[in-house]
Amino acid sequence: MNPEQIAAIETSWALVAPIAPQAAELFYGNLFALDPSVKSLFKADLVEQGKRLMQMIDVAVKNLRKPEVLVPALQGLGKRHVAYGVTDAHYGTVGAALLQTLEQGLGAAFTPEVKAAWTAVYGTIQSVMIEAAHSKA
Ligand code: HEM
Repeated sequence: MNPEQIAAIETSWALVAPIAPQAAELFYGNLFALDPSVKSLFKADLVEQGKRLMQMIDVAVKNLRKPEVLVPALQGLGKRHVAYGVTDAHYGTVGAALLQTLEQGLGAAFTPEVKAAWTAVYGTIQSVMIEAAHSKA
């Protein structure tokens, strides 16, 4: 993640944050369209779950410059996801659903630079979570 990418993430997320509930709804719609089988993994109310997801993305965006804070939080999250029945392959589907959601929410502000920055940040989040999911420590 370079400083330009971090800035692109911060600016674009500021546009999504005010519409977080709608963005969460769009996200689950996209996710379940891409892979209807993941629906059964979600036991909690999707409105509540959507809030937690948006809050966690918010924490991630706010801590991109503080890996010492972000990495341990993502490692814990990755480990908890094993118990939710999440597999490595699911991360690709969730990443695709997230990018679709950003495109829908941002419209013209979803520039190629913004897309590349989110692809990079999601890739980093996913690697930290997956690595922690497989680690015994
Ligand atoms: C950027 C990646 C992800 C983030 C930031 C994220 C965030 C969260 C958060 C904050 C929770 C609340 C519980 C907790 O903190 O442990 C949660 C739960 C959950 N997540 Fe994720 N998640 C991610 C990836 C995924 C993936 C790839 C899947 C696979 C489909 C998934 C499925 C679930 C499920 C099934 C639950 C439990 C819901 C329930 O009990 O109803 N998540 N996630």
